[in-house]
Amino acid sequence: MNLDGCAQDPEKREYSSVCVGREDDIKKSERMTAVVHDREVVIFYHKGEYHAMDIRCYHSGGPLHLGDIEDFDGRPCIVCPWHKYKITLATGEGLYQSVNPKDPSAKPKWCSKGIKQRIHTVTVDNGNIYVTLSNEPFKCDSDFYATGDFKVIKSSS
Ligand code: FES
Repeated sequence: MNLDGCAQDPEKREYSSVCVGREDDIKKSERMTAVVHDREVVIFYHKGEYHAMDIRCYHSGGPLHLGDIEDFDGRPCIVCPWHKYKITLATGEGLYQSVNPKDPSAKPKWCSKGIKQRIHTVTVDNGNIYVTLSNEPFKCDSDFYATGDFKVIKSSS
């Protein structure tokens, strides 16, 4: 794998891996932010696994790097600090609880709205953390806040 992203076809360069930091550092802080080819992402280290996603929440652009991680239905999720939407770390699905109006006393069920937040790939090489942007061709709701006027907000960790 080419990890430096230098001598590549410019069209493919956007999807080359970018070094965003050291493994030792993210294991201590458990999260970090980075700008990868002009796209701002957050990287989480949670229970021994790395996850990267667009930093701005698909709902209204909330700062996901400031959210708490909690399990819902056995799935680790980042909870957006603005309106508490839950997004699975592994897949970027938006989760919600559904109530059956014909049986409101029944226990609400966790359901998925589908993939709402774009997930990127994290790899570790020689103690360095690399992020490769997703080039999945589907339109993801979080793309709106990763482009245009919202693109590259101030990084803060
Ligand atoms: Fe994230 Fe509304 S902006 S829940």
